[in-house]
Amino acid sequence: MKLGIESIHMHIPTYALDLRDLAAERGVEFAKYQRGIGQEVMAVPAPDEDVITMGANAALGALEGVDRDAIRTVVFATESGIDQSKAGAIYVHQLLGLHSNCRTVEMKQACCSSTSALHFALSTVALHPKQKVLIVAADVARYGLGTAGEPTQGAGAVAMVVSATPRIMQVEPDAGYYTEDVMDFWRPNYRDEALVDGKYSIKVYLHALEECWKNYQQETGASFEQFDHFCYHLPFSRMGLKAHLHLAREENASLSSRELQQQIEPSLGYNRLTGNTYTASLYLGVLSLLDDDSLELENNRIGFFSYGSGCMGAFFGGTVLPGYREALKTDSRRRLLAERQFLTMDEYEAFYQFALPKDGSEFVTPRHQTGAFRLSGMKDHQRSYEKVPVAAGNAGGSTCAYAAAPFMG
Ligand code: CAA
Repeated sequence: MKLGIESIHMHIPTYALDLRDLAAERGVEFAKYQRGIGQEVMAVPAPDEDVITMGANAALGALEGVDRDAIRTVVFATESGIDQSKAGAIYVHQLLGLHSNCRTVEMKQACCSSTSALHFALSTVALHPKQKVLIVAADVARYGLGTAGEPTQGAGAVAMVVSATPRIMQVEPDAGYYTEDVMDFWRPNYRDEALVDGKYSIKVYLHALEECWKNYQQETGASFEQFDHFCYHLPFSRMGLKAHLHLAREENASLSSRELQQQIEPSLGYNRLTGNTYTASLYLGVLSLLDDDSLELENNRIGFFSYGSGCMGAFFGGTVLPGYREALKTDSRRRLLAERQFLTMDEYEAFYQFALPKDGSEFVTPRHQTGAFRLSGMKDHQRSYEKVPVAAGNAGGSTCAYAAAPFMG
């Protein structure tokens, strides 16, 4: 029985910051962002979007053409969840109108929980081949203004339907795992911004990669040469390159620049234009690779490395299925990226500073472009969401509604 990804889609905010502007404002050479960390544009969430609206938007696309009645489990993976108790999956389930005989749960282990969700989904579908699992991975990557982490912020979501009738990718159930208790990146409950020891986090990431790969080899006997392409967790796109060179060195594989370009570069494009999306980041990389129409990926084997600070890692493999291209929504993703509206530095900082009341008082959020769903406000400590008519919600490329937003004061 083949198990894997039947459908996959992403959502990113309509608003973005050109890192040229950030570099100029922070007195940093743009080359540091562009070449040193490999980032050019950062997605910036509007005040009326959060992980729920981004996740529901991505899931709406992933569910197109899928038998919704077969969805018996919704797993929400995030490290920027909106509630300590209630699963984000329940909000998405409601916004999408999925049927009520459904299991809904949220998973957490930094950026890696989306991969645990995928493996959980594979086990579920192996036991119940008629069922499908909807996975929603959504995050807002947020550090402090003016910190070293600032240019590696971002926001976005990826949703996947995992089933026994995959159309895009067969995912192998075996994986190499590694866990170690470290403090490279974390976010205590009382903080909105992550704390990070940046240089240390890179070292731990690379160490986890080595250990996962060793474990994967022990479990499966796989070799580096068996993979055509590699997709890594991408906190910033240059990390993918660093990771791949590190793994190649460990394996004594000497890669020509053409091989290196072919194995890793196609997966980096979306991240470079979006920034870190934590749980969604590896899968945004997968979409970047799949959407590259200069490549014919049928039957290509892909190696995946998922990393979650704190830390846990997983290495696993998958094979792209014949006819995968017909199941992709490449044009829609290109439109999302092309029709974004660029913020000025003042607008970016105002978006960044925006916060819902913390005393549960009633609040109506200003309206921005958020796709098909938006966070309409808050009352009695409860967030409320609404559907946006498609014409208003997806009118990318129109004038920036932002300037008139009430919170700008
Ligand atoms: N032109 C070209 N390159 C330049 C340059 C210039 N003018 N100036 C600097 N560079 C290069 C540097 O040489 C360096 O390259 P190497 O990595 O090859 O040495 C690179 O740009 C970055 O420069 P710095 O090391 O000086 O960068 P920094 O101190 O500003 O911090 C960072 C970079 C650690 C990534 C920081 O942005 C950060 O803390 N980000 C958040 C944490 C993070 O993303 N960690 C990744 C692993 S943890 C993880 O993966 C989980 C997760 O999602 C967070």
